[in-house]
Amino acid sequence: MDIQIKKDAAVPHDGDVVIMGHYQGTPLSPSLRTEDKKRGGAVQSALRSGEFDGQFLKTIWVRSASLPHLVVVGLGKRSEATPDRFRQTIGHAAKQARESRMKRVVIPIGKAEPIPVRMAVEGTLLALYQFHKYKSDLDKKRIDTILLTVDQKTPLSPIRKRVALGRCIAEGVNFVRDLCNTPSNEMTPTRLADEAKRIGAEPCCSVEILERDDMKRLGMGGLVGVARGTSEPPKFIVLEYNGRVKKSAPVVLVGKSVTFDSGGISLKPADQMEKMKYDMTGGATVLGVIQIVAAMKLPIRLIGILPATDNMPSGSAIHPGDVVKMLSGKTVEVINTDAEGRLCLADALSYAARYKPAVMIDLATLTGAATIALGQHAIALMGNNPILSAQMEEAGRKTGERTWELPLWDDYFNQIKGDIADLKNTGGRPAGTITAGLFLKQFVGKTPWIHLDIAGTSWNSDSPQPYIPKGATGVGVRLLVEFLSARAFIS
Ligand code: BES
Ligand code: MN
Ligand code: ZN
Repeated sequence: MDIQIKKDAAVPHDGDVVIMGHYQGTPLSPSLRTEDKKRGGAVQSALRSGEFDGQFLKTIWVRSASLPHLVVVGLGKRSEATPDRFRQTIGHAAKQARESRMKRVVIPIGKAEPIPVRMAVEGTLLALYQFHKYKSDLDKKRIDTILLTVDQKTPLSPIRKRVALGRCIAEGVNFVRDLCNTPSNEMTPTRLADEAKRIGAEPCCSVEILERDDMKRLGMGGLVGVARGTSEPPKFIVLEYNGRVKKSAPVVLVGKSVTFDSGGISLKPADQMEKMKYDMTGGATVLGVIQIVAAMKLPIRLIGILPATDNMPSGSAIHPGDVVKMLSGKTVEVINTDAEGRLCLADALSYAARYKPAVMIDLATLTGAATIALGQHAIALMGNNPILSAQMEEAGRKTGERTWELPLWDDYFNQIKGDIADLKNTGGRPAGTITAGLFLKQFVGKTPWIHLDIAGTSWNSDSPQPYIPKGATGVGVRLLVEFLSARAFIS
């Protein structure tokens, strides 16, 4: 997609369609009034008749033979405006433009226009995402140019920066969506390692990949136990970005990277099992975040850890009842081989603590119970540091990728206390998301830590949202980029 920026007081005529926003209950902005008049005043009369009044996500199309068409999208009430609503409205209109086979879309950002530039770019690129990799008869509908027009007096260089930032973030999210939509015959631990190597070749980045033998040698009994059932080589991926900050303690991101979760010997039912290709979303998100942060050149040190493996049943697979010894030295009785994520993550968290991180954040499609508790609209957040949790919640409000905290009270510990070992890997049905979080907590020590259970938010099986397609959502990427930017005092 080509994104061009032009100075132009009047909207140029070299596009197929012009997208403009309108706040509910306000008079048309001067530039919208001008564009509307040129096309016969249809918007003004729709406003008068009440047919269109700028309700959130409502659109009105004004077709024209000689000029670019005009689509006006309702921004809702000005008092309810949020950055996320901008993303949604612009994304919604951009998708309509694509469906109408528009190729070149003009978005005026002149001072009078309410849609800020970065949100326009993010909203458009996120909304236009499609996963076409395996389609042989390619859909010809495709927008190829976005033309942003700005007021004559607006200096271009800050606008260019905002466009580049919005683009880098949206492309990072779309990269994560691609990884998660790609099936597990292609998206193997080896392939995740290859993606990490590609990012690791960028400036200030480096990558290290540990193999099955290394994991055994180190004593990662949890991860090795899960990986026993698969002949697909597991990979322990460590990707580092060092934004040249002297001796600062790093932020470590740990992402669940189960490239296919069959459940193992505690096999999952067939219905919906195909979805378990996205059980590597946490790891993909970590890769996407590091790619974006490295491109933004944030002055932080960031380390990403992906314990990547399939979870498969086989003659060599771990059995229910087996006891494994974790990297931390703790022993775990594997009650259910389908609770594999916490076994992999616990070892990765113990490994992460070796970097003496300022903060450790893990992301995981960890429990079906997270969907039961919060559905698709909130990430389940748990942690051991209220200040950090509050910062993450704030980042959630800003990005529209909201988090909701669940308690990790000691009272729940009885459910995962081991009978013959230190711990059990399941805590029964009550509070399944919490007992999984509490299990992880046993491996983080005193390091400030946040656990994000993204099982509910990372796949959209409902109808498409304005900028969230069906399938992999990429939720979590913008949340973490915002959280890290705030830490680096950049907004
Ligand atoms: N990857 C699943 C959790 C999951 C389920 C993510 C559905 C997304 C959609 C995880 O490994 C799992 O199987 N968890 C079990 C834990 C249980 C055995 C304690 C679950 O949630 O049922
Ligand atoms: Mn599982
Ligand atoms: Zn899983």
